[in-house]
Amino acid sequence: MQSSLDYRTLTGYDTYRDLPRLWKDNGVIVAMDIRLPNASDRTSVIGRTGSGKTQFGMWLLSTQSFDTMPWVIIDYKGDELIGKIAGIKPITYKSVPEKPGLYLLKVLPDEESELSDFFRKVWERGGIGIYIDEGYMIGQRDKWFNSCLTQGRSKRIPMIILSQRPLWLSRFVFSESSYFFVFDLTDNDDIKRVRSFVRTRSGEDIGDQMPPYHSRYYDVSRRYMAKLGPVPSGEKILALIERKIPKEKTRFL
Ligand SMILES: Nc1ncnc2c1ncn2[C@@H]1O[C@H](COP(=O)(O)OP(=O)(O)OP(=O)(O)O)[C@@H](O)[C@H]1O
Ligand SMILES: [Mg+2]
Repeated sequence: MQSSLDYRTLTGYDTYRDLPRLWKDNGVIVAMDIRLPNASDRTSVIGRTGSGKTQFGMWLLSTQSFDTMPWVIIDYKGDELIGKIAGIKPITYKSVPEKPGLYLLKVLPDEESELSDFFRKVWERGGIGIYIDEGYMIGQRDKWFNSCLTQGRSKRIPMIILSQRPLWLSRFVFSESSYFFVFDLTDNDDIKRVRSFVRTRSGEDIGDQMPPYHSRYYDVSRRYMAKLGPVPSGEKILALIERKIPKEKTRFL
């Protein structure tokens, strides 16, 4: 019998601080055989509105390498959870950050060309992580965004891209992704698009309903699929992120 144990739980640990390490070290986790994106992978997080993408995306970000390299969150929505991160540094299009840490670039829908030029600078520099919630605001044919996607591995540009309408995104987001996290999807055209990149187990379809905040994990190179339970609460995720942001060195005169 397929039981609810089939859902790999991301909660239930005493401490969330060690969760990324637990994914690797803890016996249960090893048995789960799940790898998380590294500092050069592209990752897609997909699901209908309200399915839990943003909360999951922030958790995934908390496992990433902004303690050793800069990561920029590109935010169109003035997201509440992102806005609460203590220690995040606001930036403008003018320059790309060099030091490790978490940076926030607020973007307006009519700033496509400025954003494109920002991706050119990221592509030129490399070694910068990019997190985008609702990337469909970026033109599907944007040359520099697509260059970051297609050459991100060699240039060390890890990217996490969240989307509720996969049909509106550049195809390169999906063709270049090493990992997919697929939450509940309802639109038939979106399901079709995702189905062309993500393999399910036999007898299962990517359009089959998911319980609230659960996702399907897909590791492209191993063609490995697992189901994941909900991530921890917003507060716990914030604590995980804030703990990892490098502290500014205080200068003593
Ligand atoms: N793991 C979870 N446990 C409990 N509540 C959750 C969880 N994930 C998300 N939620 C709650 O569900 C609501 C929707 O989640 P979220 O904002 O992550 O969805 P979304 O897919 O990003 O939606 P949208 O496409 O509208 O941005 C939020 O109020 C959030 O607090
Ligand atoms: Mg969201």
